[in-house]
Amino acid sequence: VPAPLLQGLRVVISAGPTYEDLDPVRYVGNRSSGKMGYALAAAAARQGAQVVLVSGPVQLATPAGVQRVDVRSAAQMREAVLGALPADIYIGAAAVSDYTPRQVAPQKLKKTAGTQTLTLELVRTPDILAEVAAQTNALKLVVGFAAETHEVEKYARGKLVDKRLDLVIANQVGIANGGFESDENAATAYWQGGEQVFPGTSKAVLAEQLLSLIAQRLHA
Ligand code: PMT
Repeated sequence: VPAPLLQGLRVVISAGPTYEDLDPVRYVGNRSSGKMGYALAAAAARQGAQVVLVSGPVQLATPAGVQRVDVRSAAQMREAVLGALPADIYIGAAAVSDYTPRQVAPQKLKKTAGTQTLTLELVRTPDILAEVAAQTNALKLVVGFAAETHEVEKYARGKLVDKRLDLVIANQVGIANGGFESDENAATAYWQGGEQVFPGTSKAVLAEQLLSLIAQRLHA
């Protein structure tokens, strides 16, 4: 039996979407199901890690041996992730909303008579991944995802540099059999001076393959 790859390491993983509330009945969300992040959490626990899974709203069971913290908004996800540090590894698999409504209406927004349009004002959310990567009590490895519909390598390598990541896992979204919601995914990992292609497979298998790479980069 091979030794567990992540024995004794503390791993914080974000997963799922965030919901940004507009009023008591409506929100801005996205298509993330949480499957990729949950697969990583399950695989990391099997590899001996102490795993904290910070999860947006999803319909998934908590993987065995994983400590799960449920959140709703990007702001709550940031609090929970920062609160789970220090850790050895952070993996940002969540689809965190880049924008949130400037105001949450305390009451249900009503239709305005005489107009056919509604304009929402959104403001940027803090970038959790960049904030974790900038932590001074340095983690051993900070891993981001890049969900792209086009020019995947260019944008993924941009995130690696701009957010000062150790590793970025790029996956194409907006396609069948991969990305959001699907049980399958394909990815390319990029780091400074290298890359590795992971052909399409189940998210469970991909998670195990990605964790082997993560363990390798840890010791690189
Ligand atoms: O959940 P599934 O249905 O299984 O789908 C999996 C997935 C496609 C959501 C997942 O594999 C994935 O790509 N997750 C990242 C989605 C995303 O929001 O990517 P991005 O390129 O917009 O963000 C880049 C990175 O910055 C991500 O690691 C993200 O977690 C992080 N980020 C983004 C914005 C923000 N405010 N804070 C962040 O930490």
